[in-house]
Amino acid sequence: MPALDDFSEDGPSIQWPLPQRDPGFPPAGPALRLGVMASGSGSNFEALVRACREGRLHGEVALLVVNNPGCGAQDRAERLGVPCQLLDHRQHASREALDHALVAAFRQARADLVVMAGWMRIVTPTLIAAFPDRLVNIHPSLLPSFRGIDAVGQALAAGVALSGCTVHLVNEAVDAGRILVQAAVPVLPGDSRERLAARIQRQEHRILPLGVRLAARALGIEGQ
Ligand code: GAR
Repeated sequence: MPALDDFSEDGPSIQWPLPQRDPGFPPAGPALRLGVMASGSGSNFEALVRACREGRLHGEVALLVVNNPGCGAQDRAERLGVPCQLLDHRQHASREALDHALVAAFRQARADLVVMAGWMRIVTPTLIAAFPDRLVNIHPSLLPSFRGIDAVGQALAAGVALSGCTVHLVNEAVDAGRILVQAAVPVLPGDSRERLAARIQRQEHRILPLGVRLAARALGIEGQ
């Protein structure tokens, strides 16, 4: 008999994604203003925009910041009509300088929460301290396993049978802040990095909006 708050699909033997608590609907209060940071294709950014527009997340993406000109995330922002700002790390003298610019951009956008949705740069205390418990990251592994770069490759090299993704708060240690939500996927025989990454990404798109809601609820800014 599944628990009342088990929202995962039924499966004959093993369940994945793992059972997750859903904070419940409908949220009250003003819509969350989200800032999003992306470096690459931007599929998680788009998943957040869609969750907002389809009513699964009571919010809107107020600003996307990208660090790579012409990246997929920038194209998606244009197609989706989301304000997008380029802050190219190559144009900033240090990590801190880039993070000061990020803080200014998200403050100006009046972001309640900032989501690192495929941001491939290490962030500094400058950004973390500006958004305490309000900076959320998504990482393609079941943390605390496989922190850092190429988490999918690390999982394949380790020969694990289950992999997945984690939405967590950001602190000063890399990929180590408080876990908000996770989903697991199987590693199948013959998986390539691309095939496993695609399987993980389908779950990322599902749990990222949920993780954002859980972070907002913990802060008391989503409404009860
Ligand atoms: C996602 O799989 C995300 O978990 C990963 O980058 C990908 C971005 O995809 N992030 C990290 O590896 C951060 N350590 P997307 O641009 O299509 O959203």
